[in-house]
Amino acid sequence: MNMYSTKNINNFVDEVRENGYKKVESFLTTEQCLELEKNTIKAFKKAKEKHYHTKTDFVKVLTVSQDEAENIKYFKFLKDLFNDESLISFVKNYFGTDDVEISKIFLSESSNSGEKVDVLPYKLHFDKTRYLKIMIYLRDVGNGDGGITFAKKEWNTKLQEDLLSKQEIQEENVVEVDDLSKIDEIIGKPGTGVIFDTNITHKAGQVLSDNKRLVLRIDTRPKINS
Ligand SMILES: [Fe+2]
Repeated sequence: MNMYSTKNINNFVDEVRENGYKKVESFLTTEQCLELEKNTIKAFKKAKEKHYHTKTDFVKVLTVSQDEAENIKYFKFLKDLFNDESLISFVKNYFGTDDVEISKIFLSESSNSGEKVDVLPYKLHFDKTRYLKIMIYLRDVGNGDGGITFAKKEWNTKLQEDLLSKQEIQEENVVEVDDLSKIDEIIGKPGTGVIFDTNITHKAGQVLSDNKRLVLRIDTRPKINS
């Protein structure tokens, strides 16, 4: 068995299609998370600048391709995830094609910058390029720790109709939250998985507590033929 084999999520295909997102308890075990945390911290130390998507005092983000996971020593721990059969089968079912790929894995650690910002990706939006993403919390994410947030189904449907009908704002697709009951902020224990289609209205969580959020994200999509 792979060190990082994931919980079977194939039962959730319909739910993700229906609601745009799904929280999965214990997508990884506590032991897997501890091991991933250790290896991620090591990768943050060893990775070259070119692997960093973001590197500030408050946010560190590494991006890793399958090729890099196979060939770079300190990224090898991600190989199992790129080859995770259960995960890949979910993605194939979801998109209804065998031609899918895990385009990148992101490793990110975020902490409180001391100021609340109101810009993308911390505003509700939906993405121009469609991906199915699987986010895994490697540390506890409680209130104030910046859990990813979604518009609930009913509001999401309405928002997308409105936004898509107004051609002039299609570039950004940003909306203001006027009612907290219309959104769902995902909090959870280490190992919690969040599957979401980027066509659901969503926003990245900002850390407002003293905890350092550590997240692994797997981006998948139908293969782009070259
Ligand atoms: Fe986004």
